[in-house]
Amino acid sequence: MQASGSAPAKIILFGEHAVVYGRPALAVPVPELRARATLRQNPQAANRGLGIRAPAVSIQDEVGNLPADHPLAVVIHRTLELLDREMPAGCDLQIESNIPVSGGMGSGAAVSVAVIRALAGFFDRPLTREQVNSLAFEIEKIHHGSPSGIDNTVVTYEEPVYFVKSQPIHRLRVAKPFTLVIADSGIPSPTAITVAAVRRAWQTEPVRYEQLFDEIGTLAQMARFAIETGRTEELGPLMDQSHVRLCEIDVSRPEIDRLVDAARQAGALGAKLSGGGRGGNVIALVAEQQAAGVAAGLKQAGAAGTLITTVAGPRSASQ
Ligand code: PMV
Repeated sequence: MQASGSAPAKIILFGEHAVVYGRPALAVPVPELRARATLRQNPQAANRGLGIRAPAVSIQDEVGNLPADHPLAVVIHRTLELLDREMPAGCDLQIESNIPVSGGMGSGAAVSVAVIRALAGFFDRPLTREQVNSLAFEIEKIHHGSPSGIDNTVVTYEEPVYFVKSQPIHRLRVAKPFTLVIADSGIPSPTAITVAAVRRAWQTEPVRYEQLFDEIGTLAQMARFAIETGRTEELGPLMDQSHVRLCEIDVSRPEIDRLVDAARQAGALGAKLSGGGRGGNVIALVAEQQAAGVAAGLKQAGAAGTLITTVAGPRSASQ
């Protein structure tokens, strides 16, 4: 017997950080990068508990040997509780992912969703997307302090979303596809750390930060309008303006600014950091024919890797 589940990476287009304070944000799946979990009976391991093989994070062990608060142990236990099932013995859970870890692409959320889906499939107890999403959010909360919930939402639904914390999801209707170059700075930056730094700064300077969050939220609203009406060329300047605000809330760094500048110089229509910042990714809006040149410019400016992706309408979520 065997069952699999998967989920894509994601990227935030607009609204990061301000979304933690109730402003809207836009995010899209990146289907080129995925996490996949496969749970299968292993006849050679009938006498032991659930084995985990996760080469991307160098884990090959029984779940019982992981620390109780390890993300994989937590997601497995919480999913079994929800499914009202015992830990499957004599089985292996294989987890493969090509999503960079701590790179602002939702790798943790995608692995959680893939594992939840594999377990639900294995026990033939299908879960709704809402159930998968709220369980993945619980796991995000344990590991990231006070997340907005945007990561788990985008990777679960695998659709572009307009997201406001604690509100039902709004799907983003992409009237005209557009192309992005995503550049990995190669600098890992755990989101929990930047979120905590922004919180401290907001506590020290509440008026200034509230104003900046408002501006970031307004740019996200304008971007939603541009995307839903097919005026994608307007997204470039909106990205540039967002990046300025993100610098002001101090989540950029010189290496990131260099990549943003390099993308623009290579012909991007706009560029910004994406996600938690102080590392992670930069995104650049490009005309399709410029994509390869912008990717090359980003590599030259120090990007560890680049990916070209096209944002289009909804895709059906993988089970
Ligand atoms: O670093 P990422 O892409 O996982 O995104 C974090 C987005 C924040 O707005 C900074 C935090 C959050 O929980 O929304």
